[in-house]
Parts: sequence; C-alpha cells; structure tokens
Amino acid sequence: MGIIFDLEKKLSIPLLLLFLFPVPCLSRLWCAKRTTQVISIIKSDSYSTVRDFNELALFVQTYLVFLLVLLRRLCPNLAEFPMLEIDSKESGMTSQKKQSKTLKIAVVGDIHDQWEVEDALALKQLGVDLVLFVGDFGNESVEVVKAIASLNIPKAAIMGNHDAWYTATEWGRKKCPYDRSQEDWVQEQLDLLGAAHVGYSKLEFPEWNLTVVGGRPFSWGGPEWRFADICKERYGVTDMEESAAKITAAVKTAAGDAIIFLGHNGPSGLGDRPEDPCGKDWHPIGGDFGDPDFAEAISQTINLGKTIPLVTFGHMHHTLRHTKKVLRTSVFRNPQGTIYLNAASVPRIIEHDGYKQRNFSIVHLEAGVVTQAALVWVGKDLQAISEEILYELSPSKL
Ligand SMILES: [Fe+2]
Repeated sequence: MGIIFDLEKKLSIPLLLLFLFPVPCLSRLWCAKRTTQVISIIKSDSYSTVRDFNELALFVQTYLVFLLVLLRRLCPNLAEFPMLEIDSKESGMTSQKKQSKTLKIAVVGDIHDQWEVEDALALKQLGVDLVLFVGDFGNESVEVVKAIASLNIPKAAIMGNHDAWYTATEWGRKKCPYDRSQEDWVQEQLDLLGAAHVGYSKLEFPEWNLTVVGGRPFSWGGPEWRFADICKERYGVTDMEESAAKITAAVKTAAGDAIIFLGHNGPSGLGDRPEDPCGKDWHPIGGDFGDPDFAEAISQTINLGKTIPLVTFGHMHHTLRHTKKVLRTSVFRNPQGTIYLNAASVPRIIEHDGYKQRNFSIVHLEAGVVTQAALVWVGKDLQAISEEILYELSPSKL
C-alpha cells in the first residue's frame, strides 16, 4: 500500500490540499541555505514582517504535515485518531468523528446464572464500547439482572424465555419458588433494566448513529405462538403478525438509519438443518426454529430503507443435542452484508486447570459495517486467552 493511497484513503481533502500546497516550496526549504535562513529568522526573532512570518509558517506547516503522514505510516492505530480519519459518507463533523472509530461491541450469550464480578471487570479490560445481552439471565434471576443493570458500560438487553420461567407457563407457575400474588420477579427484572430492555422497543445511541431494536421478549423460538399470556398481558400482542408489527413500529421511531437488532432467539430464514444458527437439534431433528415475526420485522426494516449491520441473538446453544462432533454454525452473512450472530456459547463460564474462563462474542463495527466477529475467552487475569475469528471482512471491501 503506497503512501499516496494512504493519503487518498485516510486523509481529509483539506489535509490533502495542505500537503500539496507546500510541495513547490519544499525543495527550497530543504536546501541547507534556505533552512539556515529560516532558522536564523527564528533565532534572530526578526520574523515580524509578513514575508518572514509566511516563510516560517510555511516551514512549520510542511513539517507538521510530513510528521502526521510519518506517524500514520508508523502507527496504524492512528486511524482511530479522528483528525486523520474521515468517513466520506458523513457530512457532520461530530458524526464523522464518531463513525470513524471502530466500535467494539460485546454480545453476552445466554448467562444461565453464570455472571460474576469478574465478568464486568473483563468487559472493562476488553475495552468494549457497548454490551448487548441476549437474555436467559437465569430462571427469573433478579440478582443476576441487578448486577447487569449496574454495569457501567452502555448496554441493551432483551429478556429470554428463562427470564419468565415461573410466570409464562402453567408448568412453570406450579414450580414457582415465590408467592406470585405478592411478588413479580419478571417485572422486577424489567424495572431494574429500565430503558436498557429493548424488547418490543429501541434504544438510541446517537454518539454512534446507532439504534438497537429488540425483537419479541421472552421468545421460546419456533413458528408456534408460545407464551401467549405474557405477550398479551404485558404487550397486548396476540399473534406473530401483531408481534412483527410491534417490532417494526419500534424501527419506525429510530432516529437514524442504522439498526442493530437484538433478539433472544434469532429470526427464521437462517436454515433448517439442526446445526444452522436457529436449527432444531432435538427430536424430530431438523427444521427452522427461528422467530417468523422477527424475520418479518427485519424484512420490513429493509423495505423502510434502513441498514442493518448486525442481528444478534442466543437461545439456540452452540453445543448440539443430537451430536457432539460439530458445534452449531454461529455466524451467517446475507447478501446485503448483514451479520447474524448467535452468541449462545453455553456454558459461558468453564473451569480449566482450576481457573475460570469466560466467553464473550466480540463484534467490530467500522463505518456502519461489521468488520469482525469473534468468540473470545478471557482467563484468570481477565486477559483474552483465545480468540476464534468467526467472521472477518476483507479490508478491500470496507
Ligand atoms: Fe432461551
């Protein structure tokens, strides 16, 4: 990659002009005599005339431009330095600065009561900008949700079927460990999360020109309408069609055009083999167990002209029930470039050699495009000890 390419690709037009303008004078300034003159101007403190000041300014200007170019060549991370990175699709300087930075998103798969203080510390250590929780914190585990809610990182979450485990079904209500006439742990979880819960709703992140829109909360998955009572009582939704319309209604209120979808279960349409992202891996094996309403809402979102860099979800665990030879396919990319990420690497905390390891799915979003998705395991010192790259965009396509 040549230096001129870097200039065209990475420097703003004003900076490019700044670079080109002094070139004719550069050869003069480089000659020892001229440089000596400039230095003498500095030393003699005699640059009070307009001509001398201009020469001095030209020299400094040229030096700074070449210093910036040199820094950029030597240190690629300077791409995150907003002054050097301009997104040509944006016009506002504020959004240019924000869009130019690679956004690091952690997706936390089905927790199932495995959340510890170290998880919050690990997220800080990983330096993530945004955390997305796909639900199934535990079986109505208010304590886990309380810990999640107190996390001091921008976040969004959606409830899973386990988060209404003792409320949504007759079977669950019979096993409920608390007095449902006195307490409502489902509501306690929702209250704790507040605006961070995006089920049938959305949360704006204007600093990144992003809106996170939630799918159907408490989803059990599949084409059958399940958890009918809780959907009707809490959201007034009675079937898949109404459910799709409610998700789409949230999309229509989004401030920007870029939508990240967060569901507990993924949408239908990602394959019907048991190892597909939402494939049914229990008897009778096979079939698409994605949410049809979620898929319909995504389709309508595209029709609205929105862009969808990421659809992420959990529920369908990576470990398969019918075979241990392979894991579930966790990433799918559609022709429009949307990345579908199943983050349900369960259990998300394991013990190895007496030490705990915990996983996070890490997504990089650059200029509104997912450039990488990986499953990262963090070790006892909260540093990443392994990274499985699940998807990576070729730099030439960015
Ligand atoms: Fe689930």
